[in-house]
Amino acid sequence: MFEEAQYFAPIATQDDGSVVVELAASHPGFADPVYRARRNAIAGLAVGHRRGTPIPVAEYTEREHEVWALVTRELAVKHAAYATEEYLGGVDRLGLPRTRIPQLQEVGELLEPLTGFRYLPAAGLVPLRDFYGVLADGYFHSTQYIRHHSVPFYTPEPDVVHEVIGHANALASDRYAALYRLAGEAARRVEGEAALEFVSKVFWFTLEFGVMLDGGELRAYGAGILSSYGEIEEFRGMDVRPLDLAMMGTTHYDITKYQDVLFRADSLQHLEDVVGDFWATCDDDSIAKIVATNL
Ligand SMILES: [Fe+2]
Repeated sequence: MFEEAQYFAPIATQDDGSVVVELAASHPGFADPVYRARRNAIAGLAVGHRRGTPIPVAEYTEREHEVWALVTRELAVKHAAYATEEYLGGVDRLGLPRTRIPQLQEVGELLEPLTGFRYLPAAGLVPLRDFYGVLADGYFHSTQYIRHHSVPFYTPEPDVVHEVIGHANALASDRYAALYRLAGEAARRVEGEAALEFVSKVFWFTLEFGVMLDGGELRAYGAGILSSYGEIEEFRGMDVRPLDLAMMGTTHYDITKYQDVLFRADSLQHLEDVVGDFWATCDDDSIAKIVATNL
């Protein structure tokens, strides 16, 4: 069901050092040379960035700021109905700008006093071990471009709306931020690729696409749902299953296709007990046992 914020466009660095984002022909910005030039420039900022230095300023057009304002306004209405109390608390604490796209540097400066998290710019897909590993240090890799202005409520790839409205508002919560850190520590601890993939899938079905019972209703806390205007109302009608580590860690998902299986925690405490404790203690052997006992 969830098809937004899933697919990263490939990035190529050419012989002269310039960075090119390879948009698919179906991408809404494919035939817009001005947008594509901006995408290349923004990707170049991330490629050239060194951790610990300020994140370079990305240039956006007025129309792009208007996209942010429109999506922020419309998502806020949906969040009031469908987001968890804890996430809504994060929205209030963080206080993101509502009428212009925030710079990633600014997002980190808002977050750091709250939960210690800062943002790192990503040109595109970041390798799993690096993406998850740096969560342990309080860093979050984020794309910096925004979706094409012609379709403000659709994006075929994770853009700054997803990364900031979806993830930063969650990272502003002490309890969610602690879970992100534990996922990072787990990714650092495991050695094999199979165990790392298991850890990342549990992240996918919780912090990206998780839902939980909250105030007697099914509400979303996953960033992929909460940044997805077109589909945020759909999750209550999907195939929602009880929280189950073995199933989450082994259920296949195709990131380019609809996301139609979700996992429900009974409460935030339940999520912390099951998933938080798993990330806090798992290693290659314990993950292999979980997989083996559920074959
Ligand atoms: Fe995400």
